Amino acid sequence: MCRKKHSITSQPVKAIPELIVKSRKINSPAIIYSRKVLNDNLNIFLSSLKTVNNKVHLLYAVKACTNSEVIREMATKVTGFSVSSDEEYNLVQRYNKVISATGFGYRRYPQNDRNCIFYFNSLSQLKCYLNNKDNYIAAKIGIRIRSPKTLFSKSVTSSRFGFTLKQIKLLKDLKKIYNFEVSSILIHQENKVFDDVNELKCFIAKILRKSEFQTVNSINLGGGWDNLFLKKQISKFINNLEIPKQYDIYIEPGSALVRTIGILKATVIDESIEDNIRTITLNTSQFNNSSWYVPKIVAYKKEGLKKLDTYVYGNTCYEKDYFGKYTSTLISLNSDVIMYPVGAYYFTTHRELHGLSFPKEYCI
Ligand SMILES: Cc1ncc(COP(=O)(O)O)c(C=O)c1O
Repeated sequence: MCRKKHSITSQPVKAIPELIVKSRKINSPAIIYSRKVLNDNLNIFLSSLKTVNNKVHLLYAVKACTNSEVIREMATKVTGFSVSSDEEYNLVQRYNKVISATGFGYRRYPQNDRNCIFYFNSLSQLKCYLNNKDNYIAAKIGIRIRSPKTLFSKSVTSSRFGFTLKQIKLLKDLKKIYNFEVSSILIHQENKVFDDVNELKCFIAKILRKSEFQTVNSINLGGGWDNLFLKKQISKFINNLEIPKQYDIYIEPGSALVRTIGILKATVIDESIEDNIRTITLNTSQFNNSSWYVPKIVAYKKEGLKKLDTYVYGNTCYEKDYFGKYTSTLISLNSDVIMYPVGAYYFTTHRELHGLSFPKEYCI
C-alpha cells in the first residue's frame, strides 16, 4: 500500500447533504457513516460486475474501514472480505464468508479455515510455512505476484510485495519436496486506470502460461478500483483483460466502496484574529485522525460577523496539526463544521497523540 493524493474529486455525493442534516442531533467530534451511500456504492459495484464475462466475486478490503457496522452492512452484499492481519481476520471470520488473506501481519496462517485463501508474498514466507510442522498444511495455496506498476504509480519504486518472476521459477523446486498446488494468484495494482489494461492483460497472460500455475483456477485482481469506479469502467476494464472464462475472478476494493461514506463533524473551540487573518482550532485533530488524508470543510453552521481568510488547526500541541486554509469564510468560534470525505483509510491510519482518541463513530 502506498497512498498518493490523486485527482479523485472530493465533491460530496448526493446523499451527503441529507447526512449532514441528520448529524445535527449528534455531538461533535463525531464521524458519521451513511448506510445509504455505502449501499449505493455496493449496488453500483455489483451491477457493474453483472456484465463481466467471467464469474466475478466482490470482496471488501477491510483495511480501508474497520468499523463494525460498516463491515456488517457490507456482509449483506459481498461474497467475502480481504484481510491483511490476524486482527482483520478476527473482525470478519464470524460472517462465514470467503476470506482472501495476504501480508506479513500474521502470527498463525488462517489456512485451516476452509473459507480462506492465503496468498503468500515471498518464497521465504512460503518456505517458512511449509517447514513449520505446527502448521496445518493446506494442499491449495495462493501466490501473490509482484504486479507491474500502474500509470498513476509510475513515480513510485516497484512494490515490495509478491513473488518476482525469478521467485516463481523456484516454486518448482519446492513442489518436489512438499505437497501443495497453487489454486489462485493475486495481482494487486494500486490506482488502476483504463490505459493500463493492455499492459496488465499481457502480464496476466504471461503468468498464466507458466508451468507452476497450471493448477490455478481463480485470479484475484486486488484493490485500487477508485478511478474505474468513478468513470464506470470496471467491467470494461476486466473484460479487456481477456482472462479465459475458466478462471473465476476476485476483486477486493477497499477505498472505492467506502471513500465517500463518511463525514466528520467538529466544533471550533478557539479563535484569534490578527491583521485580518483568522486562526481557529477545532475540537479534533487532523494529525491524530489520519496520517494519510486531510478532509475538506464542506458545510458549517453558526457564522462569524466578518468574512476572513481562515487557518484551521487541530487540538493537539503539535504545531503542524493543520486542516488547511479557507479563503474569505465566516467560520468562527463555536461554529460546527462538517468535513468530507472520511470513509477510507481514515480511522485505520489514525494516531493518538496526548491520548486523544478518535472521534466517536456512528453509522446511520
Ligand atoms: C492486496 C490488496 N487488496 C486490496 C487492497 C485495497 O486497496 P484499495 O483500498 O485501494 O481498493 C489493498 C490495498 O493496499 C491490497 O494491498
